[in-house]
Amino acid sequence: MEGNSAPLPLRAASQVASRLVNPGGRPSEKSLREAVDGKLVLVTGASHGIGRAAAGKLGAAGATVLLVARSGDRLKELEREITQCGGSAHAYVADLSDPESTNALTAEVLERHDQVDVLVNNAGMSIRRSVEFSYERFHDFERTAWVNYLSPVKLVLALLPAMRARGSGHIVNVSTSGVRMPPAPRWSAYMASKSAYDVFIRTVALEAARDGVTVSSIYMPIVRTRMIAPTPEFRYVPSLSAGQAGDLVCKAIVERPGSIGPWWVSAVEAGSAFTRWPWETAMGIWNRVSQDSSNAAHSAGPAKG
Ligand SMILES: NC(=O)c1ccc[n+]([C@@H]2O[C@H](COP(=O)([O-])OP(=O)(O)OC[C@H]3O[C@@H](n4cnc5c(N)ncnc54)[C@H](OP(=O)(O)O)[C@@H]3O)[C@@H](O)[C@H]2O)c1
Repeated sequence: MEGNSAPLPLRAASQVASRLVNPGGRPSEKSLREAVDGKLVLVTGASHGIGRAAAGKLGAAGATVLLVARSGDRLKELEREITQCGGSAHAYVADLSDPESTNALTAEVLERHDQVDVLVNNAGMSIRRSVEFSYERFHDFERTAWVNYLSPVKLVLALLPAMRARGSGHIVNVSTSGVRMPPAPRWSAYMASKSAYDVFIRTVALEAARDGVTVSSIYMPIVRTRMIAPTPEFRYVPSLSAGQAGDLVCKAIVERPGSIGPWWVSAVEAGSAFTRWPWETAMGIWNRVSQDSSNAAHSAGPAKG
């Protein structure tokens, strides 16, 4: 869902608001080219949304982009687009919810390429489902854990040693501003898995910095991709387009900051010790009055189990 079907005045208001939530802007073409020309950049979740937008921009700027996702046809299409613009790309079909598939991906990448300069852990699976509807759905927690946490960890374990050995490398974590906010009902599987990877990679950042490897975590606000399509309440929330979010990924690669996020995330985070009680009270009320559904999964792709 790249577009926004809201009425015009709401769309206009949402565009103004999106300027307020956008923590970045876009790097200049020159700075992006200087940062990635001739570099090998692996982008997971390159078939749709943020990952696709970012991969296209990186390819156009001269990077060789390794495109990872399950939708091989969409990866091939992007590979062609990048090649036609004079760039270079290679499609890798992998299912990051399947440990064997992730193992095969890392083995193939390591065999075919001497080094990966930048790893963008972007692929994600979102589920909005209250625990009441999850009693028989342990597989939801397993799948989100694999896609959002464990497979990204596997990729880091496979690619980090060479980065450290040569004294350079960059890892981008496409995270959500939700991990820095107090919890909201129905997002337990998604937020727990995103939080786990966030803590993992920030810890790795501390250890790998001495070997020249940098880590950037992007705490995305709402982005208008197919991921948010099943959540009606997100329709009028200030949001970014996939292209704007892709620009943030490029900005992270150019500037290598420790984190990028909307200004209000830091404010909420700083105040969360004081706001915990009112927030959780408000969320409890919201949970009682808003609509719940056993079928509100945002799984990008076919469900298992
Ligand atoms: N949209 C938002 O509001 C928002 C907000 C904060 C953070 N984020 C984060 O941004 C990242 C990108 O999300 P998006 O909004 O661009 O969503 P999206 O449009 O649904 O794209 C998700 C991408 O992840 C890939 N993916 C999902 N499951 C996979 C699997 N099992 N194996 C391999 N690839 C898989 C999908 O490819 P295939 O289906 O082809 O496999 C797709 O390319 C995610 O990490 C998400 O958590 C999004």
